[in-house]
Amino acid sequence: MGEVVPLPAAEPGPEERPVLVLDLGGQYAQLIARRVRECRVYSELVPFTITPAEARARNPRALVLSGGPASVYAEGAPHVDPGLFDLGVPTLGICYGMQLMAQDLGGRVERTGVSEFGKTSVVAEQSELFEGLPREQTGWMSHRDSVTAPPPGARVTAGSPAAPIAAFEDPKRKLYALQFHPEVVHTPHGTDLLKNFLYEVADAPPSWTAAAVIEEQVERIRAQVGGARVLCALSGGVDSAVAALLVHKAVGEQLVCVFVDHGLLRREEATQVVQTFEGHFHIPLVHVEAQDRFLARLDGVADPEAKRKAVGEEFIRVFEEESRRMQTDARAKPVRPPSGAAQSAPQGKIRYLVQGTLYSDVIESGGDDAVAAKIKSHHNVGGLPAEMEMELVEPLRLLFKDEVRRVGEELGLPEQMVWRQPFPGPGLAIRIIGEVTRERLEILREADAILLEEIRRAGLYRELWQSFAVLPAIRSVGVQGDERTYGYPVVIRAVTSDDAMTADWARLPYDLLETISSRIVNEVPAVNRVVLDITSKPPSTIEWE
Ligand code: XMP
Repeated sequence: MGEVVPLPAAEPGPEERPVLVLDLGGQYAQLIARRVRECRVYSELVPFTITPAEARARNPRALVLSGGPASVYAEGAPHVDPGLFDLGVPTLGICYGMQLMAQDLGGRVERTGVSEFGKTSVVAEQSELFEGLPREQTGWMSHRDSVTAPPPGARVTAGSPAAPIAAFEDPKRKLYALQFHPEVVHTPHGTDLLKNFLYEVADAPPSWTAAAVIEEQVERIRAQVGGARVLCALSGGVDSAVAALLVHKAVGEQLVCVFVDHGLLRREEATQVVQTFEGHFHIPLVHVEAQDRFLARLDGVADPEAKRKAVGEEFIRVFEEESRRMQTDARAKPVRPPSGAAQSAPQGKIRYLVQGTLYSDVIESGGDDAVAAKIKSHHNVGGLPAEMEMELVEPLRLLFKDEVRRVGEELGLPEQMVWRQPFPGPGLAIRIIGEVTRERLEILREADAILLEEIRRAGLYRELWQSFAVLPAIRSVGVQGDERTYGYPVVIRAVTSDDAMTADWARLPYDLLETISSRIVNEVPAVNRVVLDITSKPPSTIEWE
């Protein structure tokens, strides 16, 4: 008998060995998690209250203590369980995180009277973190308190003029600390420092790639839904598209997509969705042409919130009708079976609904599932109607938006969909200021298409957070040829932003503005004036309604 040779144990997937970022102050922590992921190492935000046992249970590659706005001595300042430092897990403290480490491990933190804010010159010695980096570098600082004595056993590895202890390391205990912020772009070698920590100190390979995400999610989806049917509402946006592609890759024809065309999309968007999903990916798609219903519902409605409500409610109604039909009807197969699609799609009850919840939604809500779902359904047409009682499949729950795009690219989603700028659920209805009519929709759609075509041609589409046309339903006088005209104005709105919370109006080149303006007034007969919105958010909002 031959000897039984055990198979080598499978390498753990990147998500099974996360880098846990302890959130001691919101924005800082999120940015660290993103930077770690940019180094292709999976990382997650966790509350700073995590216990050593909980941390150990996650089998982390490393822990990172984030910065935070507090002083370690302030009343109510966040503290971590010092037992975390005894786990033997490589741990990096950043800014406030460093000060907590110093305080908990027998060093000293004081208010020296000298604060540092902004770019600071840091001089470092060779060490594990600073390996291969220049002796002198710029570090972005933001602190009032300073570490004045490192923990016993730790070596000071960097200093700045105002903070002689700007970094320390204790390789024996695998403890590392930086007073400045490696996660911000103003620290030019920040990413190198993080890479040294991740690859060299924590021995975490850069294996968290789009391909790895796909593999992991496909497995999870299969494990969750088994042989059951799954429903996904496509909106035309990148999130629902990528979520649908992942589920289709996992369970094929068990997935049915519903695309409710409310007639409030931009030019050619609906066609693009149908062509991409049915034509290209051969995914069963029910295309509901509900334009007339939505227009009827919006008839006479001018108030922005009333429009949102009308579109949202109508959407849910149509979606419910369709899914009910699919649950009970033999017509559960796609209305028009896509060419090349297998015809053996399972019939009957649909138990799962795909939702494109992102990691940022999960974080925003403090990780609470119920709240996350609520946020998403509030923002997007397509929230789950409570009485439908389907279980959610959320394949994007672990991903930031840019990661969703990378996964979309890897899955072969067309560039235009992958990089689509955000678009509001109620669509053009909230970009017509006043009542929504068929005629106004057509005018806005044409003007908007010209604007976007020119922005793309100028190579600015991806740089801008959003760029679009707005149609205020007022008229002004103009003159064309020998004739006086009485037409609509079109507003050009283009903004840069990171997260839509704040935004700056984009300084588009004059030549581009001129081309957009003259093309719109020449090609869209009902428009005789083009104006530019030069307000930022705040005090304005990005949308006009
Ligand atoms: P504002 O206009 O508030 O917009 O600066 C911030 C971001 O949210 C988008 N937005 C919406 N998205 N349904 C959506 O799905 C909506 O009703 C809605 N209103 C605004 C807007 O496009 C921008 O990205």
